[in-house]
Amino acid sequence: LPMEALLNLDDIEKQATRLIPKKAWAYYYSAGDDLYSKSFNNAVYRDILLRPRVFIDCTVCDMSTTLLGHKVGLPIYVAPAAMARLAHPDGEHGIAKAASRFGAMQIISNNASMTPEQIVEGAAPGQVFGWQLYVQTHRRKSEAMLRRINAMRDRFKFVCLTLDAPVPGKREHDERSNLDRTTTVESASNAKADGERRPGGGGVGQQLFFGTASDLTWETTLPWLAEHTDLPIVLKGVQTHEDAYLAARYAPQVQAVILSNHGGRALDTAPPAVHTLLEIRKYCPEVFSKIQVWVDGGIKRGTDVVKALCLGASAVGVGRAALFGLGAGGQAGVERMFEILASEAATCMRLLGAKNISELGPRFINTRRVERD
Ligand code: FNR
Repeated sequence: LPMEALLNLDDIEKQATRLIPKKAWAYYYSAGDDLYSKSFNNAVYRDILLRPRVFIDCTVCDMSTTLLGHKVGLPIYVAPAAMARLAHPDGEHGIAKAASRFGAMQIISNNASMTPEQIVEGAAPGQVFGWQLYVQTHRRKSEAMLRRINAMRDRFKFVCLTLDAPVPGKREHDERSNLDRTTTVESASNAKADGERRPGGGGVGQQLFFGTASDLTWETTLPWLAEHTDLPIVLKGVQTHEDAYLAARYAPQVQAVILSNHGGRALDTAPPAVHTLLEIRKYCPEVFSKIQVWVDGGIKRGTDVVKALCLGASAVGVGRAALFGLGAGGQAGVERMFEILASEAATCMRLLGAKNISELGPRFINTRRVERD
């Protein structure tokens, strides 16, 4: 189907499913155990109702916002996701090019299938990137990576430390696809392309995990990071108000948290970001004034984006949607994904009577059905 015929993110996912190798599909689609968190991440948005105000001039709708002090064109960003070239040769660079058309931020995965230098090459001036770090057991490898990122600080504005996968989740689709070990995994991942032998078996996820540290802590890892970078830190994978509260105590080194259950790929039945947002609002709302709160997981519609922003999120990440966009048509497919999601979000805001992102707040939503328990 031509790009214009793809009308929503499900159409894009279907198109990608037809086009990409089975193994890539299994790796992207997969999630922990029974995929409950993965589907709930999206379903929970259906239970939040909107409260549109009428008789408001909505001719203009400004979607731009500010993330960690940097101006971006959209509150929608690309979440870090490994191995984009499994979907299309444009890879992470194609995603970056597409994001730049919308002024959108992109977080590059530690396990990207291109080097950071390749990915940001030719990026628009002012385009914002973050580098996602999986701390390696051999710390010197991560330290070397951080030196590279520090040297590219005109591009990389923060380091995103992922915390929700200290061990890999059990992903059966991925395991069943039974990767033959000659594919790109060995060579593609930046932090690992060093000829080290990995155990066989498992899927792409299990193989990529090899060499990743499981011993990170608040007390040891943040000081270690401070020794090796003065870029701001974003903590990804926070799933409770307790951890959001702790993260805020590490400001200003920590400048944002990402409420995420890793797209349901780590611990199945872990909460969707919406639940964690509601917890923070209830138990420690001061977090929102100390650090930014970003969310990801299950975003498929512009209304999902707007609801998360109304609950206090400053930005909303898309993982699979970007990969499937790439699979559906390379850079053009990712552009189509952004176009659809941004225009749906703008339509939602205009129908709500909100002219810009800063106007969004809890008055536009009714969360009673989510909070009934
Ligand atoms: C991911 N995610 C991820 N997160 C991370 O911190 N580092 C990584 O390398 C990866 N890799 C990765 C690969 C694939 C194929 C997927 C689908 C996801 C998680 C990602 O950043 C994000 O949390 C989720 O993808 C968000 O959920 P949705 O948008 O996919 O529903």
